[in-house]
Amino acid sequence: MAKKIVAGNWKMNKNLQEGIELAKGLNEALAADKPNCGVVICTPFIHLAKVSEIINHNVIGLGAENCADKASGAFTGEVSAEMVKSTGAEYVILGHSERREYYNETPEILKEKVDLALANGLKVIFCIGESEAQRDKNEQNAVVKAELEGSVFHLSAEQFKNIVIAYEPIWAIGTGKTATADQAEEIHAYIRSVIAEKYGAEVAADTSILYGGSCKASNAPELFAKPDIDGGLIGGASLKVADFKGIIDAWK
Ligand code: PGA
Repeated sequence: MAKKIVAGNWKMNKNLQEGIELAKGLNEALAADKPNCGVVICTPFIHLAKVSEIINHNVIGLGAENCADKASGAFTGEVSAEMVKSTGAEYVILGHSERREYYNETPEILKEKVDLALANGLKVIFCIGESEAQRDKNEQNAVVKAELEGSVFHLSAEQFKNIVIAYEPIWAIGTGKTATADQAEEIHAYIRSVIAEKYGAEVAADTSILYGGSCKASNAPELFAKPDIDGGLIGGASLKVADFKGIIDAWK
């Protein structure tokens, strides 16, 4: 059975002090009311070391939102997977559509990042998903399959166990437009079948496939009730303890 996970993606929000407050608040809320799923928060790089000291890692995993495609050296402004790991983080988000679109991250670049993340003992939350134009042309299955083939299907089955997939239709991210639970389930089941073809049924059944895109406390129960939806990757609604906790509680 795939692990159930609710992961937050803070994106470029919260200064250091605000981030510390949010992490403290979440840590307290989950200490008082234990979650029924894995919880992860992915924060800007500058928050990682501090937040790592604040949270109970038995309850909340910590992740970065990106890492470099190079191991180390003269790459001004970049942050390596090894540096991320050294903060106490356990995860890194890679392949988010905002990175692909605004920072020109190609499948080849993402493959390098995935390899470095795994080599440094990080688990990868790997994002895939189609644009609105691609969905209109019914190309969503081909798009997600190509994204998997382009950056993670070179991994061995053993390595692939460290990959969490996040299906995030680009047209649903930050737009308030959520995929319906049926729409999401249909493509999640397809993604699992593609993983099964590549790695076998057991690995596929054990792979957590999260839904992302305007997921909130009000729609999370219906989404999470679907057999192939193992949780969510949450942007906007991860920025307030009550909103994020509301989604975590959908597993209760
Ligand atoms: P959203 O973002 O929840 O704000 O739509 C999700 C994501 O981009 O991970």
